Amino acid sequence: MTANPTAADRASATFLSIFDDSAPVLVQAPGRVNVIGEHTDYNDGFVLPIALPFTTAIAARPRPDRRVVVESEGFGRAEFRIDDEPRSTEGWARYLHGVAWALTEHLEARADTGSDDPGPGGRIDLPGWDGAIATDIPAGASLSSSAAIEVAATLLFHHLAGSTVELSVPDLARIGQRVENEVMGLPSGLLDQLASAGGRAGHATLIDCRDLSTRAVPFPSSATIVVLDTGTRRELVESEYADRQATCAAAARALGLTSLRDATLDDLDRLAAAAADLPDLDPDVALRRVRHVVTENARTLAAVEAMAAGELGELGRLMIDSHVSLRDDYEVSGPALDAVVEAALECAGCYGARMTGGGFAGGAIALVASDEVESFCSDVTDRYVAPINQPAVAPLRLYPTPPSAGARVVRP
Ligand code: GLA
Repeated sequence: MTANPTAADRASATFLSIFDDSAPVLVQAPGRVNVIGEHTDYNDGFVLPIALPFTTAIAARPRPDRRVVVESEGFGRAEFRIDDEPRSTEGWARYLHGVAWALTEHLEARADTGSDDPGPGGRIDLPGWDGAIATDIPAGASLSSSAAIEVAATLLFHHLAGSTVELSVPDLARIGQRVENEVMGLPSGLLDQLASAGGRAGHATLIDCRDLSTRAVPFPSSATIVVLDTGTRRELVESEYADRQATCAAAARALGLTSLRDATLDDLDRLAAAAADLPDLDPDVALRRVRHVVTENARTLAAVEAMAAGELGELGRLMIDSHVSLRDDYEVSGPALDAVVEAALECAGCYGARMTGGGFAGGAIALVASDEVESFCSDVTDRYVAPINQPAVAPLRLYPTPPSAGARVVRP
């Protein structure tokens, strides 16, 4: 074992100490940051994430019954019966239980595509397991720790079931999304799970959220994404997220469009007129939300070209514009995210910075010249002043994050 054991090392070691045996199966799934393309996934738009070098790992062995017994580093022991209703499981293990439910539904619907042997009535019975789980992904830092646990658990259950139904990256992502939407009650899009399941080392991935087609874009080695975790954590933002989604859906309906993916800046005047007749749609608010989505989609496509051409100044400029649009038009930034982005932009070697993920709190990212990452990190730490109106649970933490590989079964 290395001096700095990975999440996979730690999950395996915890398994050994708890179950007195080595785990035959090991899976891992990374967190993500989105370089650009924020709050566009649920509008059928474009996103450009990278998978992180931080993962969540589960070491496990099958059990003969349909129970899951799992020890989590830092969060203690959890147990559930697969046959119970997932929402009856409290705390973090609800993600695992939700995955068992969503994967079962997926496999039952797809039984005809593999040689899985469903029981009476097309029923698939996933096996239980003993396991240990460890993670390097800071929770609540906008790095998609929940998508990582969902994707890792889906791979694990699928592997232990010996299922021959193939799981594509979109399948893995949709299973995780169902857990978020239907078990956890968060109406999130597909960005996080797609990034965790489908990341590629050294690349960002352009995803068209309308048809889930992808393009891997080589990430220039002369630049590094640095995660700036402000240590602030989200509170009561799920309602804000749902509100943004509802406004976008209502604005698309008012414009006669399937989604805002098809909106253009020319639609803004039309929207003002259409929204005036809709009691639930404030025309000024709707206009700004739509303007963010339309301009963010354009920025994301432009960012792909800039990244592919190695035009780091242009890529950075697009990231800054994205932040301003999220702050002023979409109104999903927050005092700490704004302050850390401002501090980053004052530092030498920084091409651009923006909030990433859902927003309000947690982490931002900066695009930094690779040979200046070290001085950037000390500079930004000196310059960042934590806003007193948004208390943090931890001090600013910085993580340089090379684009890394997506989720996989590590063993056997
Ligand atoms: C959260 C959601 C994603 C996406 C982002 C914003 O991370 O889980 O689906 O909507 O916010 O881009």
